[in-house]
Amino acid sequence: MNSLFARKPIAAPAGEGDGGHGLRRTLVTKDLVALSIGAVIGAGIFSTLGTAAAGEVSPTGEVVRYAAGPALVISFVLLGAACALAALCYAELAAMIPTAGSAYAYSYASFGELVAWIIGFDLILEYAVGNVAVAISWSSYFTSLISPLVDLPGWLTHGYFQVKASSNPAIHAILDTAPRIGGLPIILNLPAFLIVMAITWLLVIGVRESARVNNVMVLVKLAVLALFVIVGAMHIDPANYTPFAPNGFRGIHQGAAIVFFAYIGFDAISTAAEEVKDPQRTMPRGLMLGLGICTLIYVIVGAVATGLVPYQQLASSDPLAHAFDVAGLQRFEWIISAGAVVSMAAVLLVFQYGQPRIFFSMARDGLLPAAAAKLHPKYRTPHITTIITGLMVGLAALVADDVATYDLTNIGTLFAFVIVCIGVLILRYVEPDRPRPFRVPFVWLVAPLGAAACVFVMKGLPPVAWERFGIWLAIGVVAYLLYGRRHSRLRRGLPPVDFDEG
Ligand code: ALA
Repeated sequence: MNSLFARKPIAAPAGEGDGGHGLRRTLVTKDLVALSIGAVIGAGIFSTLGTAAAGEVSPTGEVVRYAAGPALVISFVLLGAACALAALCYAELAAMIPTAGSAYAYSYASFGELVAWIIGFDLILEYAVGNVAVAISWSSYFTSLISPLVDLPGWLTHGYFQVKASSNPAIHAILDTAPRIGGLPIILNLPAFLIVMAITWLLVIGVRESARVNNVMVLVKLAVLALFVIVGAMHIDPANYTPFAPNGFRGIHQGAAIVFFAYIGFDAISTAAEEVKDPQRTMPRGLMLGLGICTLIYVIVGAVATGLVPYQQLASSDPLAHAFDVAGLQRFEWIISAGAVVSMAAVLLVFQYGQPRIFFSMARDGLLPAAAAKLHPKYRTPHITTIITGLMVGLAALVADDVATYDLTNIGTLFAFVIVCIGVLILRYVEPDRPRPFRVPFVWLVAPLGAAACVFVMKGLPPVAWERFGIWLAIGVVAYLLYGRRHSRLRRGLPPVDFDEG
């Protein structure tokens, strides 16, 4: 029983250094900030902002979520504060345990193997399931962007489950009009699949190239949001700010729980810790700077969006483009859509980058099959896990429903944040003398507050998200008992594998 909680000693990670072993150390602070903005600004601000501001009503007319209204900006500020507390904890652990694997690796060192496995499994929700939602959202912006040139049929731009779950009659009708093979309707989200495959290819050929592509995408997304803010601000009607908080704190809270999706990602860059130059200084700086910039952008975009049109008008899957449409600014609409397409591609890039590195870490510890941790002989990237992740996400995006995936992603990510906050405290207690290049200030206040804030945000999610999350974790525990427990190298007294050959 004790070995379930055996902690992995914090040692020099296998493959550390850039002397020809392990992953290459090429990234500097500005790459991390760019990766962070690349990961953070995406479907959250371009899609979930609408649901948060306008609320959600079921097809039968019941309120599923209360609208935040213009008070959405308060949701953003509160989330920024909660994430800053968690980011400080991430920064301490990322600098202290500079290894690929993020919260998985931190929990192995603080809580032990069982919790580490659960977190490894939980992080699939954040990275892979989150990316399924982003790919579907990307596909819908992309389809509308190219629609003046190419009119793709609905059965090639939606997933089967998305069509089945839709309360929009035009989309639901695809079930009847789609071509059939052997009686089965063919309804596949082809653009979502193809974008995931393209990103996977970029990642297989190497981090440096991918970081460059990411830098360009980040510049484009900042320019487009700047355009939204500047043009939008000139058309604000102050009357739209009344009522400011139509559902009081309940709306602000439930709005925050959905739009939390917009913040996911600042932690993803900690999975790059083994590819960062001087991680002890670079990681904390990159994390906090990236988060600060994104929070500021969200508050400004949220204030402009809710000032431009009445908040109810934002109930749309493309609220920023839709707000311009409603405000009579159609000539800018396609620029916003193009910006959304680029921004979400950047998000996909960072998450497709992070997930294989978590699998890589787990395989090195024996918790996943060894083949998952091999590095490509030429590109030095974990190509097998990168390709497997790409196929998993791409195939799911072909058929999945995006709505259900947002909540599941949020609850899983918040849970990982809670574990990281508590993990910092455990390690301060059990390993007080271990060198900490970055220390959370007032840690006994900051870490518990961070954990409590994340639990509070989780409580704003609907009960069905909690049920699905519970089922997912239960599957994780069973998988651990069937595979991970038997193959764990720590339990067998073996060191982590150094997978350096091709
Ligand atoms: N924060 C990322 C997004 O909004 C996941 O797309």
